[in-house]
Amino acid sequence: MRKPLVVANWKMNGDFASNEALYAALRAGLDASVSNAVDIAICPPFPYLGHSTAWLTDTPIRLGAQNVAATSNGAFTGEVSASMLADVGCHWVIIGHSERRSMYGETDADVAAKLSLALASQLSVIACVGETLQENEAGQTEAVLARQLDALVSTFAKAPAIMCVVAYEPVWAIGTGRSATPEQAQAVHCFIRAYLAGKGVSQADEIRILYGGSVKPANALSLMSMPDIDGALVGGASLVADDFLSICRASAVA
Ligand code: 13P
Repeated sequence: MRKPLVVANWKMNGDFASNEALYAALRAGLDASVSNAVDIAICPPFPYLGHSTAWLTDTPIRLGAQNVAATSNGAFTGEVSASMLADVGCHWVIIGHSERRSMYGETDADVAAKLSLALASQLSVIACVGETLQENEAGQTEAVLARQLDALVSTFAKAPAIMCVVAYEPVWAIGTGRSATPEQAQAVHCFIRAYLAGKGVSQADEIRILYGGSVKPANALSLMSMPDIDGALVGGASLVADDFLSICRASAVA
């Protein structure tokens, strides 16, 4: 039985005042019935991680980062290491987000290095995969995902399933308001799980596979009701407390 996981990716948004207000609204609106049924994480921008540990004290919400360096500590100006993220209280880290891949040149090899370093620092990992619109329309979705997953499988095979999460985020669905349909997403999630198993990840049935890309209150329940969709990675809707809470509630009952 895979416990649902809902993750807020705030991306590069917010400031001290708006973050504090958002955390207060989340704290006030989160019922134990939801937080008992669903794991919840928030990934604010790096500068707010330290403050976030205080804001999240005494809540079941866990802290995550949106990125991590592909190297250990050293002379890497502007980078933030896995051990630093663990040190400031992160439980999760997102790696391989499509915005990192497309805008900052993150490669599959980078994602593989980040995965190993994160796990070595006891961080749990949300590894993003997904195809572009062009790749989708060319019928290359499974080939693209296979290549991206190949960077993960040998490390996943040796790690506890609870620390390894895959997020399927079709690039054409991110920030567009055009989500994959539940059936489309389910088919891809099923492919991802089978691919992991076929590559020797013996605990593939226990690994949570999240869907991301225009998840909103209106589509969350139908997406989360699919058998291989184990939660959501939420961008825009995670910046609105009521919307994020509504997605968490949908995941709790799905
Ligand atoms: P949106 O929910 O804004 O489409 O963003 C999805 C995403 O990229 C989460 O990582």
